[in-house]
Amino acid sequence: MKTVYVGMSADLVHPGHMNIIREAAKLGELTVGLLTDRAIASYKRLPYLEFEQRKAVVEGLKGVSRVVAQETLDYRPNLEQLRPDFVVHGDDWKEGVQKETRQQVIDTLQQWGGQLVELSYTTGISSTQLNKAIREVGISPDVRRLRLRRLIQAKEVVRVIEAHSGLTGRIVEETYVEVNGKRREFDAMWASSLTDSTAKGKPDIEAVDISARLTNINDLLEVTTKPIIFDGDTGGKTEHFIFTVRTLERLGVSAVIIEDKIGLKRNSLYGLEVPQNQDSIEHFTQKIAAGKRAQVSDDFMIIARIESLILKQGIDDALLRARSYIAAGADGIMIHSKQETPDEILAFLDAYRNFSRKVPVVVVPTTYDTIYEDELSRAGANVIIYANQLIRSAYPAMMQTARSILTHQRAYEARSGLLPIREILELIPLGGA
Ligand code: SPV
Ligand code: MG
Repeated sequence: MKTVYVGMSADLVHPGHMNIIREAAKLGELTVGLLTDRAIASYKRLPYLEFEQRKAVVEGLKGVSRVVAQETLDYRPNLEQLRPDFVVHGDDWKEGVQKETRQQVIDTLQQWGGQLVELSYTTGISSTQLNKAIREVGISPDVRRLRLRRLIQAKEVVRVIEAHSGLTGRIVEETYVEVNGKRREFDAMWASSLTDSTAKGKPDIEAVDISARLTNINDLLEVTTKPIIFDGDTGGKTEHFIFTVRTLERLGVSAVIIEDKIGLKRNSLYGLEVPQNQDSIEHFTQKIAAGKRAQVSDDFMIIARIESLILKQGIDDALLRARSYIAAGADGIMIHSKQETPDEILAFLDAYRNFSRKVPVVVVPTTYDTIYEDELSRAGANVIIYANQLIRSAYPAMMQTARSILTHQRAYEARSGLLPIREILELIPLGGA
């Protein structure tokens, strides 16, 4: 019997998949190479279903003999191992990003006289439409919560930006660019204490209490599906922190980051310009451990934020704290810096490489914003947070409009910088999706 190979993601199985499987099975015994989360996330959004879930679905489809993992977009490793007589694929890959992959398949099959069979692509269904459909259906707290861990596993680096309102949440959810045929978008939202406070006209000193912050979270939950990382400031009193953990977890928030400061918290970007005190290792590790004991699910993450570089305590103190917080059960660490250059962050990451016990590392390149994502990723960062850029871009625009109206005593002069009325009316469609 001849053998056939089909590569697919099969996140939401649609008639296009069924057509390919039916036709492929006619040619011989069919093996499906199911793309792993990592392979998919290398060129588009993380799939809705996990690999094992997708595998269970595809294994149950008529005509499929077995399912193997395809670890990369590149078919060659699996083809060289399985040496199938046929590869079946939709004809949509003749152009665009997959063109090169297609040629590699043809060349590889030639080695043993295998053949590529192409079927006309089923039109009328696209991943963009399916993504919209997912948004309309919504997402459960459990699925959303787990998504951050899945993203950290599947992606070289997870890209996060602040969202402090439903509107900014929608921007994070929907904005994408296409570069060389690959879709690039933000993976998750950062519920920043700075931008949550600023949006409410308050300073970033934990004066906006948890209840008010949760109202913002609820606004994000209502109109988005991407995971949320909550800026938990100092976490407050340990006795209070355990309630915060459970509440965030129940809502479907993926992670809380708490910083090792104590007393009146001021924003880190002040550094030593204002009085700020770092917590003791002993007390902070107790807080982390209490939070970990309080959580109900396995997937929620408590990430410990190290303020040693902000408070000029040096790299060694930062590394000691990293070791201690990891030992106390932290699921990740965040190392912060307010230097204009990434030097001290890179020095920290370099030393961190040698840790025997590592957890994902979060960085916040606000002041050292010249560094590119792939440089941080290569240095060992797993999550990059753009912590305040949306509100910082909105504020000058609003100020300019306010000044223009005051200056000209009419709104006409400001108009060219504004979203047209028609567009603001249609920005949020009926039903919200
Ligand atoms: C925030 O966004 O509120 C943060 C990061 O905690 S920073 O403002 O740099 O302290
Ligand atoms: Mg903050």
